[in-house]
Formats: sequence, structure tokens, C-alpha cells
Amino acid sequence: MIPKSFIQDLLNRLDIIDVIERYVPLKKAGANYSACCPFHNEKSPSFTVSPAKQFYHCFGCGAHGTAITFMMEHAGMGFVEAVEELAKGVGMEVPREAPLPGQLQKKAAPDLYEVMLSATRYYREQLKKSSRAIEYLKGRGLSGEIVARFGIGYAPDGWQNLESITANYQDKSLVETGLVIEGDNGKRYDRFRDRIMFPIVNSRGQVIGFGGRVLDKGEPKYLNSPETPLFEKGRELYGLFQAQKPIRSQQMVVVVEGYMDVVALAQHGVDYAVATLGTATTPFHVQKLLRLTDQVVFCFDGDAAGQRAAWRAMENALPHLQDGKRLGFLFLPVEHDPDTYVREFGREAFEYELHNSLPLSGYLLRELSAKVNLQTQEGRSNLLELAKPLLLAISAPALALLLRKEVAALAGISIHELDSLYGVKSTIAMPRRELQKAARPAVSNMRILLRCLLFRPGLARELPDNLMADDGLVAAIFEIRSWIFAQDEEVTSAALFQFFQGTVHESLVVAEQAEIIQWGEAFDVQAEFQGVLGKLEDEARRKKFHQLQAKMAGNDINILSVEDKALYLQLLRRK
Ligand code: UTP
Ligand code: MN
Repeated sequence: MIPKSFIQDLLNRLDIIDVIERYVPLKKAGANYSACCPFHNEKSPSFTVSPAKQFYHCFGCGAHGTAITFMMEHAGMGFVEAVEELAKGVGMEVPREAPLPGQLQKKAAPDLYEVMLSATRYYREQLKKSSRAIEYLKGRGLSGEIVARFGIGYAPDGWQNLESITANYQDKSLVETGLVIEGDNGKRYDRFRDRIMFPIVNSRGQVIGFGGRVLDKGEPKYLNSPETPLFEKGRELYGLFQAQKPIRSQQMVVVVEGYMDVVALAQHGVDYAVATLGTATTPFHVQKLLRLTDQVVFCFDGDAAGQRAAWRAMENALPHLQDGKRLGFLFLPVEHDPDTYVREFGREAFEYELHNSLPLSGYLLRELSAKVNLQTQEGRSNLLELAKPLLLAISAPALALLLRKEVAALAGISIHELDSLYGVKSTIAMPRRELQKAARPAVSNMRILLRCLLFRPGLARELPDNLMADDGLVAAIFEIRSWIFAQDEEVTSAALFQFFQGTVHESLVVAEQAEIIQWGEAFDVQAEFQGVLGKLEDEARRKKFHQLQAKMAGNDINILSVEDKALYLQLLRRK
């Protein structure tokens, strides 16, 4: 027993910000800190930590608690373990209170773990006695050794077989572990009858639940333990206990869908596989696995359900990605699951597929681009919208950056445009080319005029004859204009580019081509054209004004000719 006063001292001594920061990057937000919630998948941060109050609260999923709760829920520790870990961090030693003499006198109820262990032993004994169950497992290609490694057993038919494992079938522990069901009338009976029993084991090797499979046809195919004080589906992975060592030595884990997949893979030497327990892959699963190894491959059945499961796994993994870790996705042919695949093609073929699995980035981009039509503006803007929450959820900075770049490229925009669109504060320096672009002197009006003409050659008809400028481009523009006038038909940009190939103006035209390609079809070239013509007119006027002013050179206006005088006064008024 840890004294209550110690818990208080501990919570006073540590800072919840430090504790959480080790697992979740926090951002200061006013008096509090915030982050995307580690307990559910979200796009914008609703997880809030108060340094003043020393607790956290998620406005999205309602998760809340103290530093101790956090260690339990997030790092998957037990209460004592969490307290010990936190105490160590702040240099405190956990005192132990010896139980007072009278306190433990009440006859201890049977430990729930003990009950599960007895049941496991019982089911394994029963398997030995049932040739039908043995034949079934043999028929599925399992050796005695593998069956023993996974503790697989058999629950015989009958309503109260578990009477034989307990002194008291009425003890509440049997119901609490989910082994026994209590009917409305108070009558009790065994949950698992005539089923192959797969024990679900926690990472300390204790049995916390069972999955029971029918031998023949029957519904449900698998019956599972309910959620109990020992067993929480979203946190456990079938086979993890047996696979722990191989996962570390292989530096790889395969996540599959079924009990039989794990067992069959192990039978064929792929002993680093685990299965979710009929649930989606949760963020908790992902974190647990990424703590063990750098490489996680999700291997789902090739059917539609498998596709959905993969997408969910991907979504739930995004907030927990770390640079240097690799997540892969492997889709088997529709008619296969890992069990049938490895039995038909063997370990090498399966491992070959594993090593060639689609990386998360490739999978994400493939799925997104399949959902939209990248040939259209709408499709590309759709892509940007669909990708946004996913890309923003990624915690690994390098991976996030690479993916933003790829999505930007698919959408035909720059990473900087994408980042400003997504509100990402860019951590990258602008590449030199873009910097140069930004620092480039303002484009001359003549150049803009040329661009407009290249974009829509028909505008040549609207060019004023008296276009004045001492820009060298004027000559080129008039040459283009006369060429356009000489054509019988409406001239397209492409035709224009084509015509100027190999001429003295080629390089000029090509340089501008690179610019107008970015304008897009929606660009209001008419407005741009009118605007620049207006500016050119102003420019010419100002120049003329200054010329006349220089002519006067301090003399009075009467030095000008009558026409110039009229023009000067006109320009003066316009100024
Ligand atoms: P599958 O039906 O793909 O299982 O369901 P499997 O392991 O391939 O089964 P068999 O023995 O080869 O036919 C995948 C997982 O979904 C859960 C189980 O965890 C199962 O392993 N499930 C499936 C259930 O919980 N109940 C069911 O009725 C079916
Ligand atoms: Mn199967």
C-alpha cells in the first residue's frame, strides 16, 4: 500500500507539463498548454494541460486526469508502476505501508488472474481429451508445439463445466472474468461451450481473456471475453506476449486481423505477428508497437473490410509517427488472409511481400489521389481539402514535410503555398530559387504586356498604335502583333510559341511561357491587360511631362511651342 500522503507530495513535487511533454509535444496557449489529444484522433488540438491546476482535459473525448492518470492511460502502466516511475523522475522514494494487522483478515477473494489461469489449464486439459478438437487444429495445419506455445485449448460442450475449476461456482469472480454468464433468473452457465479456446495474454504473460472459435459452422464464429477489469480490447494485442522477443530481434512487427493468422504465421516461422481483437487498430496499439520496434507492417485481408481497417489504422497512426520509424501496408489478394497465404505460399513469399509493403506515405497518397480527379481544378482543390486533416495530424516533422511536398506537387502548387493554405508555420527556409524569385526586381510593364499577349494572342488587336516605351520589348511586341494580324485565323498561345521557335525572340518567349503557365485558366487576363495599358499610358505621360519641363529649363512656359504648351498644361492638370 502506498500512503495517500505520499501521492499528494508526489503530485505537488512534479510538474505535469514535464511529464506529458515527454510523450506529447505541448504548445503554450495562454495560461495553458495544448496539443492534439493522444487519446483520440483529432485534427485540431483540444487536449489542454493546466500547469496551475496540474491536470489535463480533452474537450474532444473527455479524457482527463493528473500526471499519474496520464502515465496509466497513456503509457499503459498500473497505478503502482506509474507512481514509482514518476517518483523516480523527481528523486523521491516510494514508502510502503505495511497493512495493519486486522486489515487483511477478510478472506481474500480469489484473484481474477488466478481464475483465468485455472480456466486456461482446464481448457488445455480438455483439448487432450477431445479428438474432434485435435483433428480440427491439425486440419488447420497447427503442430502440437504451436498449440502449446499459444496455450490453445478446448471448452467442451456442457453448461457448467467450470464447476470443476472452482470451489464455488457462485463466486462473483467467475462472472467478473466473463467466464460465466448470469442469466436474468440468476442462473449461471459457462460462456464458452464447444469452442477452440485462444487465451489472450497481457504483456506480463497473464491470461486476461479468451477468444473461442466454433469447430464447425455456427454463429458467432468467434466468441470473445467481454471487457472486464482485466481485459480492455482496445489496449491489447493478441500474440504480443509470445511475439515480444522476435519483434525486438527482427525489429519488425506485423499486425494482422485474426487469431488464426497470428498462430498460422508463427507455425510457419513468422513469429513476430500480433492481431487486434476484432477492433480497429487504436492509437494505443500503434504507440505500444512503436515503442517496441521501428517497423510496423499492417497486413489486412484483401477485401473491403480490410481496406477500411487499413485506412483506420493509418488515421490512428498519424499522430504517433516518428521520423525514422516505418509503417507499411500490405494488402493480400482478395481471396486470402495471412493464414491461407502463408500456408499456400510459405514464409519466404510472405516475408517478401512484407518487405515490399507500401509505405504509409505511398498508401496515403495512393488512396487520396484515387478519390479525386487530378486532371481538374476541382479535383486538385478536393485533394488539398482531403489531405489537410491527415497531413496536419502527422507528428513526425520530416515525414510531414515530405508528404506536404508531395501533396503540393500533386495539386500543382508550391510547398509554401500549401503551408500558407494549411496555416502551417513553415520551419523550412525558402529554397534559393524561390528566394531569388521573391527578391527579383519588379517586372516591367512591357513584360507584363508581353505575357498577356502570349497568354491570349487576340489581345494584340487592342494594342494602341502609339505604344511608347524605351523598353527593348516594344519591338518584339510589335513584331508579334504584326504576325498575329497576318494570320487568317484566331491565333492560340501554342501556335504563337511554335512560330517564335528558332527566331531571335525565342528565348524571350520561352522565359515568359514559364511564367504564364502558372497563371491558370481562371486568370483574368483582360483586367491585367487593361491595367498594364493604363500604367504604360501614365508612364508615357509622365515622361512627356518631364521632357517638356526639361525643355523649359527654368524659363517660363512661353519658350514652348503652342502645341507643347497646350500639352504641358493638359499634363499638369492630369498630374
Ligand atoms: P476473421 O473471420 O477474418 O478471422 O475475423 P480468422 O482468424 O481469419 O478466422 P478463421 O478461423 O481463419 O476463419 C478476424 C477477427 O475478427 C474477430 C476475431 O478477433 C477474428 O480473429 N471476430 C471475427 C470476432 O470477434 N467474432 C467473429 O464472429 C468473427
Ligand atoms: Mn482466416
